[in-house]
Amino acid sequence: MRASARVRAEWANRVRAEYGSAALTARVVHGLIATGMPRPLIDTALRIVRDELDHAAISHSTLVALGGEEDALNIDVAQLAGPAHPAPVLAGLTENILGAFCVGETVAVPLFAAMRAGTTQPDAQAALDRILRDEAVHRAFGWETLEALIAMDPKGVPAFASVRIDGLIAASRRAYVVDGALPVLEEAERAAGLIDLTDYARIFEDCVRESILPRFAALGIFPPR
Ligand SMILES: [Fe+2]
Ligand SMILES: [Fe+2]
Repeated sequence: MRASARVRAEWANRVRAEYGSAALTARVVHGLIATGMPRPLIDTALRIVRDELDHAAISHSTLVALGGEEDALNIDVAQLAGPAHPAPVLAGLTENILGAFCVGETVAVPLFAAMRAGTTQPDAQAALDRILRDEAVHRAFGWETLEALIAMDPKGVPAFASVRIDGLIAASRRAYVVDGALPVLEEAERAAGLIDLTDYARIFEDCVRESILPRFAALGIFPPR
């Protein structure tokens, strides 16, 4: 049976988001090499590029299994990896690690866990199982790389991060959290891997408060009051 338009739109979005993550992580690989970061971090980042391309492919298979279009990947080059940071490569790398990993991948773990919990459609289940397993590795990579960046520049990186984290959290919130009343999901839509937007918002804010901000604080990174 063909899934609803909302389910197909959501999985098409996921294909594009995963592909965008691959492009952003490829930029992170460049930043790690250019700043002489340890080889194990570079190897993990290369693995993550492959993971994200796989996530895009399995999300696309799920979309097709749900009756969606074959060509979900409308590549908008301008949107693919976010704007290049105008500052030197260390600042650009730090910005990407903070925004895409310490915030993005860290909220992704509880969000994908919530999606997986209600999913019964087999293709969506298999896709979310694989993605969820990988995102925990991606989250760990983000925090480990942030520590390595701080070791490289113990004053500059926490100062830069303290200025940037409010804006990066707000940008991530805009991507996940939609204002206004939306129709409640049908059971079949939950079964295909969707969660209510109010749940998105709650999981996002809980994760920022209980996980992300304390981890930043432990590294000497505090948003300005
Ligand atoms: Fe992913
Ligand atoms: Fe990821």
